[in-house]
Amino acid sequence: QVKLTRDFFKEDLDDYAKLKDESVIAVEGKIIQRAEDDYNANVKTGTIELEAIKIDVLNVSKNLPFEIKRAAKTGESTRMEYKFLDHRNLQTKKAIVNRHKVIKLIRDVLDSNEFIEVETPILSAGTDEGAREFIVPSRTHKGQFYTLPQAPQQFKQMLMVGGFERYFQIARCFRDEDSRGDRQPEFTQMDLEMSFASMQDIIDLNSEMLVRVIKEVYGNTKWKLKPFITITYAEAMEKYGCDRPDLRFGLPMKTITEVVKDTSFQVFRSPIEAGGIVKSIKVPAEHQDGRLSKGQIEKLTSLAQSHGLGGLAYIIVNENELQSPIIKYLGEDIAQAIIDIMDAKVGDIVFFSAADAKIANKALDAVRQELGAMLNLIDPNVLQPAWVIDFPQFEEKEEGGWTFSHNPFSMPKKEFIDQHMKGENIGDILAQQYDLILNGYEIGGGSVRSHRADILEATFKIMGYSKEEMIKSVGPIYKAFHYGAPPHGGIAWGLDRLLMILEKKESIREVMAFPKTGSGEDYLFGSPSVLSENKIRETHITLLS
Ligand code: AMO
Repeated sequence: QVKLTRDFFKEDLDDYAKLKDESVIAVEGKIIQRAEDDYNANVKTGTIELEAIKIDVLNVSKNLPFEIKRAAKTGESTRMEYKFLDHRNLQTKKAIVNRHKVIKLIRDVLDSNEFIEVETPILSAGTDEGAREFIVPSRTHKGQFYTLPQAPQQFKQMLMVGGFERYFQIARCFRDEDSRGDRQPEFTQMDLEMSFASMQDIIDLNSEMLVRVIKEVYGNTKWKLKPFITITYAEAMEKYGCDRPDLRFGLPMKTITEVVKDTSFQVFRSPIEAGGIVKSIKVPAEHQDGRLSKGQIEKLTSLAQSHGLGGLAYIIVNENELQSPIIKYLGEDIAQAIIDIMDAKVGDIVFFSAADAKIANKALDAVRQELGAMLNLIDPNVLQPAWVIDFPQFEEKEEGGWTFSHNPFSMPKKEFIDQHMKGENIGDILAQQYDLILNGYEIGGGSVRSHRADILEATFKIMGYSKEEMIKSVGPIYKAFHYGAPPHGGIAWGLDRLLMILEKKESIREVMAFPKTGSGEDYLFGSPSVLSENKIRETHITLLS
């Protein structure tokens, strides 16, 4: 606190008193002890004050668009437009400071493990890695474009072929996708790659590094870190209907198509006949505070409907009967068989999802997540990390044919290589691909790569590429693989997502110093923006009206 006396400052004091909050002043004076009943226990310097003898006003603030202390309660667009004020809020700043600490720790851990940080180009050439790319027109090469990297994937593999053995980078990535809470058009990855490493080596290193981040940067917070779980993709899909389940709570699902396949109940029968599935989730009585209310069941039903289900059928197990509007259609025997396979007891309720597998899983996953929140099954202070392994190498495209399930560079698991080379039973081939998940978010993903040109070639052949098309897509790395490429593998963490979770924020925008809006705009600097005709002409581009 600064003390100004009228004796000393005379009428100037009124001018200083009128200075708006957040103005910057320099004060010269004498530190004096405060009177004891004037102590302020809330600040470190609460027992002293500065008796001013000279004041310089360095910068006068205008009226603030929002009170700094109340930034979190201010509209996001205003916070973004005045980001420089938002940064003065201690909560906003804390996330950015912790981001620095996390990145510093990662650098230290990797440096001590003999990884070296290498920067890779931002102006680069396109690849078919999945996301749509941003493009930059070349002024000097008429009609040609650079693309911004969606990840440094091919560059880091190139470094392995170049003999670097252990690379990492805090890498900026660009993807021209629609934003959402955990997605931005530009974001940051912790990207690493290592030669002569097995999947387990990479998993161990990254598990240890994540534990250190949580313990060393977030050690004095309420986080309770649980041991890592490893789960296969198939198990995750069967039990939780998604490949990044929130494992802080149970409520597993079961596919019951076989049990109900003979029913005449059209709601189950039609999807089964069309090649779909029926899945079921049980809410045990002990998780329901009394009984799920009608309102709660309605909420779950409309959630399921918003994910493509016609409704959300259910059976409640009562003392002497099964209660459900669908039993008369389903038949008592089948209803009882479901109750048996779900091991449902008195007071339990069983919900059903019948549709094609994608929709059935998505809808029941949403229902499970809502049940977790609704029934308070999630301890908000728990961090439950897990590795999802054994992903399929390929997935079927809606229009037919195959595409990679994660990225085209993954190596099939050893026992599937023969099948892969022959292009047989494509849907069964499993990849040495792993995802790192935390509390229901995918925070990282990677694989052991197919470092052999013939394996890469087979991957693209299965995806229907001609050799020319493959060379157009991944030509540089394909070429490099003809010159003694070491076996290698790696991973990338989505740093923003990880920080969003650790900082308990709803959106990755809260852990980025200069985020963009949901529609990819920057309100502070005004991007994207209209360019002058001259500038556009220089890039040899004509705008269509
Ligand atoms: P992948 O595409 O899975 O893998 O990306 C790795 C991680 O990056 C995060 N992420 C995003 N974060 C914010 N906004 C986005 N738009 C966004 N997209 C992805 C996720 C994801 O798990 N080259 C491979 C990695 C490798 O195989 O080494 C890759 O980029 O947390």
